This record gives sequence, structure tokens and C-alpha cells, in this order.
Amino acid sequence: MSVLPRPSSFDDVNGRPVPPVPVIRSRALHVVAPPSGLPPVVGADLNAPTLTGPVRYANLDHAASTPALESVKAAVDQALLSYASVHRGAGYASRLTSAWYEQARAEVATFVGARGDDTVLFTRTTTDSWALLAKALPSRTTVFVFETEHHSTLLPWGRSRTVRLPVPKSVEDAVRLLDDALATHASRHRLVVIAGASNVTGETWPVERFAELSHRHGARIAVDAAQLSAHRLIDLQAWDADYVAFSGHKTYAPFGAGVLAGRSDWLDAGTPYLFGGGATASVTDDGTRWATGPARHEGGSPNVIGAIAIAAACATIAANREAIEAHESTLLARLREGLEVIDGVELLSIFDDDHDRVGVVAFTVDGWDSSLISQVLAVEHGIGVRDGKFCAHLLVDELLDDPWRERSTTAVRVSLGLGSTSEAVDRLVNGIRRLVEHGTTAAWTRGDRGWELLDQDDPRDAPVARPW
Ligand SMILES: Cc1ncc(COP(=O)(O)O)c(C=O)c1O
Repeated sequence: MSVLPRPSSFDDVNGRPVPPVPVIRSRALHVVAPPSGLPPVVGADLNAPTLTGPVRYANLDHAASTPALESVKAAVDQALLSYASVHRGAGYASRLTSAWYEQARAEVATFVGARGDDTVLFTRTTTDSWALLAKALPSRTTVFVFETEHHSTLLPWGRSRTVRLPVPKSVEDAVRLLDDALATHASRHRLVVIAGASNVTGETWPVERFAELSHRHGARIAVDAAQLSAHRLIDLQAWDADYVAFSGHKTYAPFGAGVLAGRSDWLDAGTPYLFGGGATASVTDDGTRWATGPARHEGGSPNVIGAIAIAAACATIAANREAIEAHESTLLARLREGLEVIDGVELLSIFDDDHDRVGVVAFTVDGWDSSLISQVLAVEHGIGVRDGKFCAHLLVDELLDDPWRERSTTAVRVSLGLGSTSEAVDRLVNGIRRLVEHGTTAAWTRGDRGWELLDQDDPRDAPVARPW
């Protein structure tokens, strides 16, 4: 990699020196055309520094955060030109921005298949959506949740009112466990919370079946769609589910905005999430009357750019659903087939290997620490994946349970999306095969901060200019 030195006269507006800008050129080998017929994402031409020089970045980490769609960037760029206060001004820019904010809400309502009387709220993330719902639940609501869930879905309800169900062996087992638990734990208000797809194994849950079961017992159901929103249809009405939540940053929109949608009655009666401007109907010395509808839980100036970004993403995903699903299922089959035949590689499943799943694969490699694997993939091959327990400790502990303590306690997770290509998948599979057959290319050591290169600089630490 060559680095262009910049003279100190190029200090930024605050007088701080601007670090040198690396010029990263990719090797022809790794230059790939974006998959055709798919909505493009920004940053698809990002190059990653590796030990042997820059290569096209292989984004295999969509379950954590997706890149932004070009249509989202275009919508945000346009909205930035005129944005002003939402529901707070008579000026033209305020009127325009307020209209866009409510149109964004309507777009999201369509995207999630909301009923006419559902409330659609803009939050910050899925975590934030569940925290909001937890605060708004009627008092003494009992919440039923499987230990397969992400911590943001497992924890916000409070330990004392949560009934935790063990990791099931099959869908039938899950149905039986929930059926028994609902029959045993009577309470006036009950809520079942399940993920539409696991962020560890990618396996989907038959939401309609759990909705029917919950309603048969008089309980409501909330669906965590964090791993569905970018990949599969969300449909509150077809599922007959009561609530759904997802995050913009996992749905090809930038960070900062999420969604909670569902039944209005609990939300309208529940404690407002954030006390403040916009959430109030009236404030006098005698007391405060809170608004109902979305305003009740959207106190403060709303994140209108985030809402517009999510709406643009929803519109683009809905218009390209078939192509997106076909792209991901092709890549997923290629990935699983490639990994399955490598000695010592074990793919994780809650249900079974043939279960329907979105493009998420977690695996272990015999004798190799997962954290080292993800470092090697990044530094030796320019690939982005995640390792660890993926904020689903109970599930990963159960799936990796090994009385002989010979198996890794963490896993590597590969997750696919519009920023992934077949070349990236092949590079990952070849990287793992190479690791198993020949070991690492570089020498690595485990230091205080985890795995580090021995006696050489990490190419990812090369200085890069700030984006501002
Ligand atoms: C299934 C699932 N639920 C919830 C979350 C939390 O999402 P966020 O970090 O956007 O709040 C995640 C994040 O990985 C997830 O995968």
C-alpha cells in the first residue's frame, strides 16, 4: 500500500493535522462486478488492507450491520437539503419535513403489514423498541421467551416477570414447551416474544404457528424481526402477530433509527417512553396529560433523517424482494456446501441442518480459536465476519456444550446480504480450508487485547483520513 504524505498546511479547519491518506489499490484478482439485477449498496468498492496488499473487502457480516442502499443514500442526501423541525413549525421546510416523516411511517406500516389501527413508532434500534414495549406493558404482564434469543429480546422484561423456556430440540419441542408454559403460568396479561430468525444459526421460526398458539391461550406475541427485515417478508396481518421490531442499520439504512409496530391499546395506555416535548397533550401545574398514538413514545425532536432512510430501504427491499431472496439463498447454499466438506468444521443448528434459514451461518473449527479465525480472515484475506457468542450467550453455550471441554466456547459467524458476492463466499471457504490444511500465513500471538500479529504491523492500523 502506498501512502500519500500530506503537507502540514493541509490541517483541518480546527487546526488538527490530517493523517496521511492511504491509496489502496485492489488486486485485479479480487475485483468483482456487483451482482446484477440487485439494488446496489454504497461502498461495494471498498478495499481492505491485508498482509499481501489491498483486496476488495468481503462483507460477510450483514447480521451485525448492513451497508446502506444507494437508494437510501439518495433519499438522505435529498432530505438533508431541506430538513427542518418535525411537527413544530409552520415554515415550508417544517411542513415538508413533517410530511416526509409521516410518509415514512406509512411506508414502514406497509412494509410490516400493519393493520389500520396499529401504532408504528420510530425508535433507535430493536433493543430500543423492546425497551419501549417493556416499559409500556400493563403491570404484571408475564413474558415468555426462549433461551435462543438475542439479549435485547431476552432481558428487557425484567427477570421476575419473565418465564424463560429452554433451547428446544425441534420446532415441535418448542411448540410443546410454549404450550405447557402458557397452560401453567396464568396471568391477566401475557406476551410471547420470539425471533423470526436466529442471529446465530439463521434458522427461521414458524411465526404463524406460535401466534396461533399464543392467541389460543389468550396471550399476545411480539416478533423480533432484526434478522428478517432485510431478508424476508414481515407481515403482522398474515402472521396474526401483535408486535414487531427491527433496526434500520440491519436493513440497509444507517445507524440511529429502528421500528416498533403493533397493537395500539397497550402502547396508548403505557408509560410514555421519553418524557418531553411532543409526547404531551397538555401540561399544567395540576399535572400532565400524555398524547396517544406515536407521539406518546416519541418524546423530543424525532430522528427524521433516520425515518426517511428506513422508509427508503423498506421501499427498495419490497420492490426487489424476489431478487434479494434468490441472491441470498444461492450464496447460502454455496457457503454451507463449501464449509460442510472441510475437516473439523461444524455448523451450528438449533433445529436441524435442513431447516429453513436466512443467510447466517455460525461454525467452529476443531483446534482453532474462533477469535483467531476471524482475525486471520480479516488480515490475511480481507474478509469481515464476527466471532464470539453474538449477544446470545445462553444459546451459544447450549449449542457448544461439551462436557470434555474440547470444543471451542465461541463460534465464527458469516452472514450474507446485498453486500456479499459469490467471490467473497469462495474466498471465505478457501480461507478456512487453507487454515485447516496449512495453518496461518503469518505468526500470531495472544496478547492482552486478543490475537495480534507477531513482529509485524497490523495492516488495518494504517492511518486513514477522517470522513469529516
Ligand atoms: C435477533 C436480534 N435481535 C435484536 C438485536 C439487537 O439489534 P440492535 O443492536 O439493532 O438493537 C439483534 C442484533 O444483532 C439481533 O440479531
